[in-house]
Amino acid sequence: MAERLLINKSGSVKKGSDTIFAWWARYQEAVSQGRNAVNGTIGALLEDDGNLAINKIVDSEIRKAPENDIASYAPLSGLPDFLDLAKSLALGEIRDELLDLGFSIGATASPGGSGALYLAANNFLEPGQDVLLRDRHWKPYSGFIQNNGLGFVTWPLLPQNKSEGLEYFDKAGFELMLQQLCNNQSKVMTWINDPAHNPTGLSMTSGDRYQCLNSFVESAVNNADVGHTLLIDSAYSLYADEPFGWAETILESLKSGLFWPENLLICFAISLSKSHTIYGLRTGALVSLHPDEDLIERINSVMGVTARQTWSATSRLGQYSACAVHNSEDLGKKWSKERDRLSGLLYSRRKKFISECKSLGIPVNPTMDGFFAWLEHDEPEKIAEKCTDKDVYLVPLQGGIRIGLCAIPEEQISRVAEALAYALG
Ligand SMILES: Cc1ncc(COP(=O)(O)O)c(C=O)c1O
Repeated sequence: MAERLLINKSGSVKKGSDTIFAWWARYQEAVSQGRNAVNGTIGALLEDDGNLAINKIVDSEIRKAPENDIASYAPLSGLPDFLDLAKSLALGEIRDELLDLGFSIGATASPGGSGALYLAANNFLEPGQDVLLRDRHWKPYSGFIQNNGLGFVTWPLLPQNKSEGLEYFDKAGFELMLQQLCNNQSKVMTWINDPAHNPTGLSMTSGDRYQCLNSFVESAVNNADVGHTLLIDSAYSLYADEPFGWAETILESLKSGLFWPENLLICFAISLSKSHTIYGLRTGALVSLHPDEDLIERINSVMGVTARQTWSATSRLGQYSACAVHNSEDLGKKWSKERDRLSGLLYSRRKKFISECKSLGIPVNPTMDGFFAWLEHDEPEKIAEKCTDKDVYLVPLQGGIRIGLCAIPEEQISRVAEALAYALG
């Protein structure tokens, strides 16, 4: 009764603890009972000894930060140096080529990639409209979307039939859903977490990206009065083989004569949580790309005001420390060496996992980069529950089981594959 009186309708549907944290708690409970349990639940990169992996180069700059860069507010849209860095983290060296081609690039700092996604949800669609997502996606997407009065529709992560040389992009499903949205909405927006997708570890090939971009642009050209925003969620991109693959695809398409209609906007949701191992410092940015400079300035201002009205300013310390690292050639190189070491951990664990799954006949999804692997299954809870018989803790999500390679020491990978084989029975 008190809840009904005090909590509004949208608040009252927010129930239960997050599935990932609930399964992590189960793992911790097993450990506290003295069991030799495997933690495949959390989404943070752990060293093989179970400690949080920390990029010491970033950590050391945080500790050296001047008092003012710890205590003060940052400017509402972000520190100018950080906004510059965010553009490079999104586009790499291709950034300069895009500028030479006449593009404008904007950026607004945000509390992590989550903040960037919130900014997009808050400003790029009208209330009641749907965002287009892949059917397997990071669960908090739905929260950011719904809290902004939006809904979502999906297209399949993987094509049912590989055609036209496409490996991991369901062109038919994407184009169908996009056209349906264009028929009913004044604005459309799609979010693609690529490369190194959470929860599967999938990265689209350059051919997939090229087709996806071209399908999206074609839709924008054919529906000139419908705003089209393509948002690349690059939360794990710096742990992927092709970190700037989307920038490369955009450039390549432009060079092959792609016409950029005015109703097309491309954005990147940048997160420094994983790439710089500053999860708790809440540092990220929304980066946008369009040929019209006035539009980009307008977007910067809209996003800055939204930030002010939502969380005020983003952590100054996170922005400051990332800039301190990347403004120095020497520190930048050291950061990148450490990031490569961390990528190496993921690479070895994934390689072992794929090979063990292959030898045990486990139909694990295609997985190439980033923190996770995925087993598609109709009864994910049942499978995850059975894995706990072997003291292996994974996360059952809609449509499958997420295997947090980021948290599993290499020596325990075989136990995970064996537990899955046992659970699949
Ligand atoms: C797919 C995806 N996008 C975005 C984020 C954003 O993370 P953060 O807000 O910590 O930067 C995450 C974090 O787990 C993620 O998995």
